[in-house]
Amino acid sequence: MKIVIGCDHAAYELKEAVKAKLEGEGYEVMDVGCHSTESVDYPKYGHAVGKAVASGEADRGIAICGTGIGISIAANKVPGVRAGVVHNVMTAEMTKAHNDANVLCFGARVVDQDTAFAMVDTWLSTEFMGDKHLRRINEIEDLDF
Ligand code: RB5
Repeated sequence: MKIVIGCDHAAYELKEAVKAKLEGEGYEVMDVGCHSTESVDYPKYGHAVGKAVASGEADRGIAICGTGIGISIAANKVPGVRAGVVHNVMTAEMTKAHNDANVLCFGARVVDQDTAFAMVDTWLSTEFMGDKHLRRINEIEDLDF
């Protein structure tokens, strides 16, 4: 499985740790930056993660900023992306089981590294439940604006 990962400066160190963990487990990881703790703006990194997933270049995406919120809003601008912000193992499980999230978002200023690793493990190993949950995500796709 190929995983695209992106972050802003607030999450650079956590992004590097998650990337190393995934590579150590045999995942192919595509890193779209950022590449230091120098201040950057999160929208382009969320967009880059979302585009890689929506285009099929990557199977799944992980996007991390200070809270996970800004970068998730950016990722969710890309049609076909379902980016969910999670805070613990329970929400990481639910965002796959119920929302079929193809991008996992969290905050480096919110969770510690052990929690981040556990959330990533859970999201990667959880199956989408389909059925009424598929109907609901299709309803999201069909919303007009
Ligand atoms: C950066 O200071 C911070 O605003 C950003 O990482 C993120 O939390 C935005 O949602």
